[in-house]
Amino acid sequence: MLVMFCCFLCSFIATSNAGDILRANQPIKNDETIVSAGDEFELGFFSPGSSKNRYLSIRYKKAGEAIVWVANREAPLTDASGTLVLSSEGTLNILNGTNSTIWSSNSSKSKSIKNPVAQLLKTGNLVIRAGDDPDTGNFLWQSFDFPDNTLLPGMKLGKKIAKNSSAGRDWSCRSWKSSDDPSPGTFQVEIDISGYPQLFLLNGSTKYFRSGPWNGVRFSGIRTSGPNGIFVFDFVFNEDEIYYKDELVSSSVLTRVTVEPDGRVIRYTWTDQSNKWEQYIFLQADLCDVYAHCGPFGSCNIYTTSRCECLKGFHPKNLTAWSHLNFAEGCEPKTKLNCSSKDTFVKQLKKNLPDTHTSQYNFSLDLKACEKKCLEDCSCTAYANTNITGKGSGCLLWFGDLIDIRDQGEVAQDFYVRFAASGSARRIALIVFLSIILITTVVLGFYMWHVCKHRKQITEEMLENEVDYEKEDLPFFDFRTISNATNNFSNNCKLGEGGFGPVYKGTLEDGKEIAVKKRSACSMQGVEEFRNEVSCIAKLQHRNLVRLLGWSTTEEGERMLVYEYMPNKSLDYFIFGDNANKALLDWPQRYNIINGIAKGLLYLHEDSRLRVIHRDLKASNILLDYNMNPKISDFGMARSFGDGETESNTARVVGTYGYMSPEYAMDGAFSIKSDVYSFGVLVIEIVSGKKNRFFTHPDHNLNLMGHAWKSYKENRLSELIDVSVLSSDQDEVFRVILIGLLCVQQYPEDRPNMSSVLMMLTSKATLPHPKQPGFFNERKLDEADTSHSTLCLSSLNQTITIVAPR
Ligand SMILES: *[C@@H]1O[C@H](CO)[C@@H](O)[C@H](O)[C@H]1NC(C)=O
Ligand SMILES: *[C@@H]1O[C@H](CO)[C@@H](O)[C@H](O)[C@H]1NC(C)=O
Ligand SMILES: *[C@@H]1O[C@H](CO)[C@@H](O)[C@H](O)[C@H]1NC(C)=O
Ligand SMILES: *[C@@H]1O[C@H](CO)[C@@H](O)[C@H](O)[C@H]1NC(C)=O
Ligand SMILES: *[C@@H]1O[C@H](CO)[C@@H](O)[C@H](O)[C@H]1NC(C)=O
Ligand SMILES: *[C@@H]1O[C@H](CO)[C@@H](O)[C@H](O)[C@H]1NC(C)=O
Ligand SMILES: *[C@@H]1O[C@H](CO)[C@@H](O)[C@H](O)[C@H]1NC(C)=O
Ligand SMILES: *[C@@H]1O[C@H](CO)[C@@H](O)[C@H](O)[C@H]1NC(C)=O
Ligand SMILES: *[C@@H]1O[C@H](CO)[C@@H](O)[C@H](O)[C@H]1NC(C)=O
Repeated sequence: MLVMFCCFLCSFIATSNAGDILRANQPIKNDETIVSAGDEFELGFFSPGSSKNRYLSIRYKKAGEAIVWVANREAPLTDASGTLVLSSEGTLNILNGTNSTIWSSNSSKSKSIKNPVAQLLKTGNLVIRAGDDPDTGNFLWQSFDFPDNTLLPGMKLGKKIAKNSSAGRDWSCRSWKSSDDPSPGTFQVEIDISGYPQLFLLNGSTKYFRSGPWNGVRFSGIRTSGPNGIFVFDFVFNEDEIYYKDELVSSSVLTRVTVEPDGRVIRYTWTDQSNKWEQYIFLQADLCDVYAHCGPFGSCNIYTTSRCECLKGFHPKNLTAWSHLNFAEGCEPKTKLNCSSKDTFVKQLKKNLPDTHTSQYNFSLDLKACEKKCLEDCSCTAYANTNITGKGSGCLLWFGDLIDIRDQGEVAQDFYVRFAASGSARRIALIVFLSIILITTVVLGFYMWHVCKHRKQITEEMLENEVDYEKEDLPFFDFRTISNATNNFSNNCKLGEGGFGPVYKGTLEDGKEIAVKKRSACSMQGVEEFRNEVSCIAKLQHRNLVRLLGWSTTEEGERMLVYEYMPNKSLDYFIFGDNANKALLDWPQRYNIINGIAKGLLYLHEDSRLRVIHRDLKASNILLDYNMNPKISDFGMARSFGDGETESNTARVVGTYGYMSPEYAMDGAFSIKSDVYSFGVLVIEIVSGKKNRFFTHPDHNLNLMGHAWKSYKENRLSELIDVSVLSSDQDEVFRVILIGLLCVQQYPEDRPNMSSVLMMLTSKATLPHPKQPGFFNERKLDEADTSHSTLCLSSLNQTITIVAPR
């Protein structure tokens, strides 16, 4: 009864105009709204943030009341006296208190229409049309043609080419000044069509971020790739229109992309389960994304210390400036170009393509013809395919400087750069190459010998030199405190052997429980891991990452690290344990653990301040707190983007068999997608209660990933599930397995990134079909002998290091 009364009251308070249509000469006042069919969007006068001004806006009715479009951005109403009127000619006008028109919808079609109506469509598009003509092609005006700071599904981002019969149009999104002030800010996302189309984020008139051209599949520089089950996107490129658009896959998830006042471009998603807008950074994630960071002919690689490298065949123009990390002048060819038909082209591997501002293209040429065309024109500097699908097709030509290139394993494309014809060039290159190999071998051999002989001495030096504990702001615990806490490092307190030494449990005087990691002195590996751990984790704080509390030294000067104590051991103890142990983790807990790991990993990958690739994600590195919340531990192998990465390190493959992605184990190529692969393995292990490594099945020779894939193909997923999980919500379990399979797909570009994974986990959206997993029947590598490569470690299950075959 009371409820009914409330509803009755509410219907009076929220004076919605009951319906999605506004008719001519039926004004909407300050406190009235019209609502789209399905209740998603509403149109009315609202005040964004803490502003007192009123703006005619469209906002999500329920989803956080987020405003997605503002009409009078530049002409705020300062009081509640505004009205919206549709004139009988079909123009929307906002009138202020003294009946002056402060904003008007300007329709390009001059002819007036009969019986006009304004309607707020289900998509959030406000349209003006003839009352008896709902045909979308005949809208007199629509708000989707005048984007604000938000790109909604169904909205176009791009350009309409002006023809003499109709005007051109620019669909671009511009940020607000601040969250309280929707007047135009400085950042704008637009499609530039001056050359081959590409997406730009501008700060004023300065190019701030560039996506790279559309490569037939996606914008080549945007890393938010892979299937996500929430939206699909499309790029239309014809004589009349060039635009990007995405569409929702299911109505259970909402998504929008917003250009924020500070220049971040964020994709937001909302589900009823999350009940808030979850954020995923969409463009510009790191330094290499800054436009032209490495100057002409330079290429940015986020994994190297200096970041900038010259393209193959090029060297820095000004070595002094270059070595002072001033890259603006860029690189020049080692052999000066002197146009000749004998010029050759050097293939540049896996790059985000250069700025296409002054490029030319022809879709009907293939790569061979493309090369010929480039050779014929002296100012042509490079060429590539326009469409990477299949063997590739189309021809894209660059003229002049090549700007804004980055190394980008996941979504990259090869292209070809002009190289001066010189008979001796190849021979010289070969000689240089051989000499480098020879020298490297000698130096490496000497180094190894040296290391073995003086290992201990070197480790000490490295520690002193490379870990600046004070600089990391890490608290210091004195030895006596730690010694007392751990009962003088008694064996009773020993929790186990970590990646690089014993770990002890301790209790500080105030009762706080800690875990202390000692470094064992015997290996080089230990030192580096120790250093890594400190430099990576000290700056990171997240509820799904193990917290480093401080450091200490033994009396002999050995370093120790102090962590928060995790009472519930590690995940492998439960999921691979005996049936009693397994039963301790029911499905909701397992689901929560998967979610937690995903969140921790997302934080590592996409925190824009310090992006980290863990490289050794596995069940034994997931620790559990009192409430069985997962915490990712052991950052000994992690690489942060700000970290000094040398050539030899990239040749060192570290990780654990069974969790390593194919491209990483084979080629040493690691990226966030190799972590995604490990995550996928972990997910399937959590659901199945079996180890990927050592998995056997009576019917076939596949490993666990192969078995999961086979079960999926044969529609027998229930056979994969652990008994302790069997009785739970099967749909949810299947869904999670599917997400796991998407993560272990063979090719990194097919795997979703962690933000997509979280979106898929937290929504009920339909998932794409996974392709074949990597390593699904490759037992050879799995069973390789690891004992030589492990130094201090003995257990087979441990992290290993191998030197990648090059
Ligand atoms: C309405 O707008 C006109 C013209 O901009 C202005 O002169 C007038 O003061 C405004 N009235 C109110 C109530 O804001
Ligand atoms: C504004 O127009 C409305 C409707 O035409 C009228 O009722 C009202 O008196 C006008 N207000 C002023 C201040 O002119
Ligand atoms: C409407 O269009 C006319 C002519 O094209 C222009 O002068 C006027 O400023 C426009 N008004 C608004 C509010 O955009
Ligand atoms: C464009 O204008 C030119 C000259 O004014 C005319 O010859 C041509 O037919 C027009 N094209 C279209 C598509 O209207
Ligand atoms: C955008 O440009 C303005 C003015 O040139 C500058 O002050 C500001 O720092 C820039 N913002 C970013 C994020 O680069
Ligand atoms: C790219 O090439 C594939 C295969 O040739 C074709 O199906 C697709 O339509 C092309 N895409 C574009 C945008 O041209
Ligand atoms: C190279 O860069 C340095 C430092 O930026 C500058 O002083 C010098 O003039 C440059 N040399 C040339 C040849 O441009
Ligand atoms: C460039 O080529 C022309 C004609 O082949 C030749 O005369 C000239 O000396 C060459 N210049 C250089 C710098 O090699
Ligand atoms: C593209 O190449 C084809 C084949 O050489 C040629 O016929 C066509 O005119 C070219 N198109 C453009 C726009 O240059």
